[in-house]
Order: sequence, then C-alpha cells, then structure tokens
Amino acid sequence: MWWEIKDHLEVKNGELYIAGHSAINLAEKFGTPIYVYNGVRVKENYRRFLNTLRKFSDRDVRIHYSMKANSNPGILRILREEDAWIDSVSPEEVKLAINCGFDEQKILFTGSSLSHEDLNEIRDIKLRVNVDSFSCLSKLIELGIKKELSFRIDPGIHGVGQGWRTITAGREAHGVPIKFSIPSDEVIHAIRFAMDNGYSIKGLQEHVGSNWVRKEEVDEFLEASRLLVKKAKEVEKELKVKLEFIDFGGGPGVRYSEDQDDFPLEYYASNIFKIAKDIETDAIAFEPGRYIVADAGVLLVKVTDVKIRYGSIIIGVNSGFNHLIRPVLYGS
Ligand SMILES: Cc1ncc(COP(=O)(O)O)c(C=O)c1O
Repeated sequence: MWWEIKDHLEVKNGELYIAGHSAINLAEKFGTPIYVYNGVRVKENYRRFLNTLRKFSDRDVRIHYSMKANSNPGILRILREEDAWIDSVSPEEVKLAINCGFDEQKILFTGSSLSHEDLNEIRDIKLRVNVDSFSCLSKLIELGIKKELSFRIDPGIHGVGQGWRTITAGREAHGVPIKFSIPSDEVIHAIRFAMDNGYSIKGLQEHVGSNWVRKEEVDEFLEASRLLVKKAKEVEKELKVKLEFIDFGGGPGVRYSEDQDDFPLEYYASNIFKIAKDIETDAIAFEPGRYIVADAGVLLVKVTDVKIRYGSIIIGVNSGFNHLIRPVLYGS
C-alpha cells in the first residue's frame, strides 16, 4: 500500500502492524475505538525536519511544535525530550505544556481573539506573547501584563493551504475575511505603540496556512516569507530594534492520497534560508504541527455493520466524526 512506512505502519499477511504491534492485538487488549501513536515515528519526523533545516542554516534553528496538532501528553513529553519549543494557542495548552515539562521561556503564545481572562491566566508565566491584533496589545497594556513580545504579521499576499479553511493570511479566503495577524502596513505602528508602553520586541512571525506538499505551494509560502523578512528589516531600521528571531510558522504537509508526493523538505529548507540570510537574528523558528504527528498515529475502530446501498458497500464502525472531525469539518 502507498501509505505503508517501514517499521511503523505495515501490512503483513493481510494484517495491520503499528510499530511491530498487531493492530488486532492492540484492539483486543485496549478496546476500540482507540488512537494509537508511535513515539518513534514522532521522533523521526521531528529529527528529519530539524536536521534538514540545520543543514542549510547559518544560525540556531528553533522548532516550536504546534501542539494544537496533537496535545497528547505522551507526544508532548517525547518532543520535550527532543528539546523542542512550543507554539500554543490557549492558556489550557500553555498549562499542559508546562505540566509535560516544557520550560516556560520556550513557549510562544499565539492566541487569536484572546479575552481578558485568557491573558490574566498567563500573567505569571514567563512565556512570550505573539501579538496578533491591536486589541490583544491594548488588553495587555490595560491589564498591566508585561511580557516579551513578538508580532504575528500578515505578509499581505494570499496565504497557502490545502483548502480555503486552512489559509490564514491575505485579506480573505473564499469570501471570508482572515481573522489572524496584523496587516503588514499596520505593523510598524503596532510595534511602536508596544515599545512606547515599555514592551521589549523579540521577533516577527507569520503562519500563512496549512498542509502544503507541492513545490508550487512552497513557492507561495516563500513569497510570503520574503515579504516578512522585508518587513522585519523595515522594523529594525525604523524602530531601531534588533530582532532575536524570525518565525516562519507551520504548514508543511503530509501525503493523504496516492497521487500526492511527500513534502519537499530539502527544497523548503534550502530556499527559506536563502531568504532568511537577508536579516541577522540569533535564531530562525518554525512551527510545524501536522508534519511531526500526522502520520505517526492511527485510529483503530471495529467494524460493526456491513451493508449494500445502491450497489455500494457501506461499512459501519464504532466511531464517528466525534473522534475524527477534520474530514467533516474541513473536507480534509
Ligand atoms: C500559529 C500557528 N502556527 C503553526 C500551526 C501549525 O500548522 P501545521 O500543522 O500546518 O504545521 C498553526 C495551525 O493552525 C497555527 O495556527
């Protein structure tokens, strides 16, 4: 089968094996439905991603694992042992990461539509806030919450994603305005406002969309990244700020069907550092989620019903979109 991966997900004599364990045995032992993750595969994906980027990098590479992709504590602990950083979206995620051993200072908090309550919850945690709107910044000032900041920027061109629902930059996708990020032409103003209020600015970040596997999609991401670096230089020049990091967000995809290719990791890595060399920072950060975990797990279900409807075979199972919502929600 095209989706088999040696020593991870294999069919032997008509039976599925995960990391050498028979799926049937696992189902019998633990019951179904059950998610099964292979920690070794998580590690392999993480190391492949990091090492390929390092090969082309002239400085420190930080991988902020985007824990919204999978916040299973076992997976988080593995990535902590690998020395990953964290991209988090809510106070709950932040607390979970800390409980799994992540250093507070290695957590970047990028919420969108954060409430006063959300911000109060992270008041005493030494994370960095990645500001995605003026209103977030005003709330921080109003609440007297002092943090080191970075800013999430909409580079100003159409984002790139598997479908319109996973495009997170540009004015709009499919007629729907994009809610994320500060528009590129408002960023200097926002950062100046933060500095005037005593905040220290550490980085700029983008996340333009999710799940790309084709080179043309990577090219669109690279185009957006060029604009991000251009803006970062403008920020440094106009505001006399020295940025510690630029963060290019997540988005690298995985194969979901036979006609797709694997993500062109070398192409992505070599080209992003050609762009990053235009600005000096201590570190370059990335926020992969799906790439690290998507192919590391399976959902095992039990067949409960087989029936013929209008010439097609329908197979019913003891699970539903309560356990696997993305195909229904996102058309994934
Ligand atoms: C800010 C941010 N960073 C990173 C990611 C991870 O994206 P992906 O799983 O496509 O790598 C997301 C996903 O929505 C995100 O919102």
